[in-house]
Amino acid sequence: MAALNSGKPAVLSSVPIALNNPRMQIYLVGGAVRDTLLGYPVYDRDWVVVGATPELMLQQGFRPVGKDFPVFIHPDSGEEYALARTERKSGKGYTGFHYHASPEVTLEEDLIRRDLTINAMAMDDDGNIIDPYNGQHDLQQKLLRHVSPAFSEDPLRVIRVARFQARYAHLGFTVAPETLLLMQHLAAGDELEHLTAERVWQEFQRALGEKTPQQFLLTLKQANALQILFPELITAVNDQQTLTAISKPADARVRFAVLLRSAFAATNAELRSEKIKTFCDTHRSPNAYRDLALQFSSQADQLCRFTQLNAGQRLELIKNLDLLRRSEHLDLLLEGCSLITDNSITAKTELPLLLQRLQQVDPAQLMAQGFKGKALGKAINQAQLQICQQQIVGVSI
Ligand code: CTP
Repeated sequence: MAALNSGKPAVLSSVPIALNNPRMQIYLVGGAVRDTLLGYPVYDRDWVVVGATPELMLQQGFRPVGKDFPVFIHPDSGEEYALARTERKSGKGYTGFHYHASPEVTLEEDLIRRDLTINAMAMDDDGNIIDPYNGQHDLQQKLLRHVSPAFSEDPLRVIRVARFQARYAHLGFTVAPETLLLMQHLAAGDELEHLTAERVWQEFQRALGEKTPQQFLLTLKQANALQILFPELITAVNDQQTLTAISKPADARVRFAVLLRSAFAATNAELRSEKIKTFCDTHRSPNAYRDLALQFSSQADQLCRFTQLNAGQRLELIKNLDLLRRSEHLDLLLEGCSLITDNSITAKTELPLLLQRLQQVDPAQLMAQGFKGKALGKAINQAQLQICQQQIVGVSI
């Protein structure tokens, strides 16, 4: 397949600490192998170590990640090295796992517990691919397919599959029908409800930064998981305009703001803000996401038609967005407008110019002219209005 790379990959050029134990073998695994084969950049490398014990790892200078977790950090590269392990589910949600790591666990046993065939390949020191579950075939077929029934042991995988769809759908990837069935089955139980909000948010945030974030939501919908994980977004996901808007290239925070504006469009302004705050609390969305969503939902209508506003409206908008004191959101807000309006917004150049000019209104100068108290406030406002008016009539400002 043309899209798949072959030959010894650059990612293996620096093999770690020499491990002199002949029984110990180290393989690159997971996303790094997948993305190398896809010709995607590799940011994160995960390694699996077969035939080792925790003691041996510590002797070689690796640092343990946790007390009972068979994962170690390489002292120089900081990359993760996990002992080959099998997993058993012992509770609900993401954390309920019992691990079995021992030198006897084989690479194939480690790979079979993984989520998707394309994530269950390994690469040895010489660049050979070990692919017992046909991940390369599925890469060629562009299929997100689970490796084994063990997929169901971790409900977070439903959301991971949706995220991978957001990343790879533009290449033609789809979810294998049998995997979708499994995802629907997981959604029909109560497993998804036990996932922590932080973990779900992490996946959502990453999906918002992918090539086609709408595919994340559509895949969750297909799996009947949207109504469990993000019931507030159902209306927005049913709205084609919103899906098209968030599919345009933009910062993840901007896509989030556009999505929430649409999700709560039917409610009045005050209630909308409350709903956005509740959404962000429930889903543990960071303040940077929440604040932009709040500003965008309340001011987007005016901002997106900035050039049609009169002087008073322009000044009001600027004050509502607090742009004279904090203009760092301006680019993101304008980017949001470019997602939801077709017309090119000249506000992109006009608004920053206006802000620059407004910032030059000097209260000290007005005070020197004798203005104080309420009269000073009025005079500042008057001066600002005049500047807005000048911009409208085309006086060079
Ligand atoms: N994995 C899994 N089930 C999970 C999480 C991870 O089977 N719930 C396995 C997969 O083999 C995956 C590997 O662990 O490829 C590494 O996981 P992670 O680093 O989270 O994801 P990547 O697949 O590397 O993808 P990304 O590029 O998004 O980091």
